[in-house]
Amino acid sequence: MPTPHPALARAEAFCQTYDLRIPILLAPMAAACPVSLSVAVASAGGLGGCGGLLMQPAAIKAWASEVRAGTNGGFQLNLWIPDPPPARDVAAEAAVRSFLGAWGPAVPAEAANTTLPDFAAQCDAMLEAGPSVISSIMGLYPPEFVARMKARGIKWFATVTTVQEALDAEAAGAEAVVAQGMEAGGHRGAFDAGQAEARMVGLFSLLPAVVDAVKLPVIATGGVSDARGVAAALILGASAVQIGTGFLRTPEAKLPAAWANAIGFVRPEDTLVTRAFSGRPGRGVATAYARAANAPDAPPPAPYPVQRALTQPMRDAATKAGDIDRMQAWSGQSGGLALARPAGDVVRDLWEGARRLLQ
Ligand SMILES: Cc1cc2nc3c(=O)[nH]c(=O)nc-3n(C[C@H](O)[C@H](O)[C@H](O)COP(=O)(O)O)c2cc1C
Repeated sequence: MPTPHPALARAEAFCQTYDLRIPILLAPMAAACPVSLSVAVASAGGLGGCGGLLMQPAAIKAWASEVRAGTNGGFQLNLWIPDPPPARDVAAEAAVRSFLGAWGPAVPAEAANTTLPDFAAQCDAMLEAGPSVISSIMGLYPPEFVARMKARGIKWFATVTTVQEALDAEAAGAEAVVAQGMEAGGHRGAFDAGQAEARMVGLFSLLPAVVDAVKLPVIATGGVSDARGVAAALILGASAVQIGTGFLRTPEAKLPAAWANAIGFVRPEDTLVTRAFSGRPGRGVATAYARAANAPDAPPPAPYPVQRALTQPMRDAATKAGDIDRMQAWSGQSGGLALARPAGDVVRDLWEGARRLLQ
């Protein structure tokens, strides 16, 4: 029998450790991770995923139970590591509200007084749900929580955007790192939000550098939406790939049609990184609002999560109207490769295609 390509052997070892048939992970995507999508991906042999950022503890536990009712496959639960409470600036918020008033309903001043679900209670809920993997983004879990995860045999995957973050994650006890290239759709996972735009590294540079720097398995994420990307990531040293945008056009993702359609037309140059939706930098389709809000004459966005709360009325109205120009249409740079096909078929075809390329 011919010896398998070393990249395939590495992926196979990862699959054995995590009880997967295919080394493809559904990216945890806050507000875009319906049970149906994880059931489809996990049933096809990959790993499901839930972005719990905006979910109350009970909803996190219910999500896990519903996925278990639909598949025997595994999944990861994921949280953002919270920043300190944002500094408030009433005058700056008023300027943002006035700007937003031209794009959607008038935004009342109280809209900015938003609260997030309790992080410690969300962490407890994740432990109770007992997934095979818990992942982090925007920083590292506190040591006490890491110890509690380990005591339960739950593995910790830490999202990193630089080599230094990968080293820090390894030192903090992560079992694997998810190297997020700047091509990625959605929020940039930089530990220090203030440095996110200055430290934009593409996956082709980040991945081999992280692989060389840490002893942990590395999962590649960002701009991987077809079999060529999967094979390339494995050759660059990844043990698995994590895909977000590549699943957003599948029927199981249940995305608003205007957003799903727009992703299908995205060329790499048609996305941009902006703080204008949430206050944290994220990559999405370069819609009319995103471009206008990124222009030099636009008011600077409020910090996360104030900006997110201020844009909520516009985003809700746009989603209701199916108006892509005002929607928060996150997409990675490879959106144009995402297929509007059942998610299970996407998983299987990605893997069969990658294997053929690696023969
Ligand atoms: C709609 C959307 C929401 C996301 N939400 C989260 C999240 O809550 N937690 C997280 O770790 N990553 C989140 N991400 C980032 C993904 O985990 C991943 O890094 C990214 O999708 C990879 O790039 P790709 O979209 O080009 O595949 C999100 C991405 C998208 C597109």
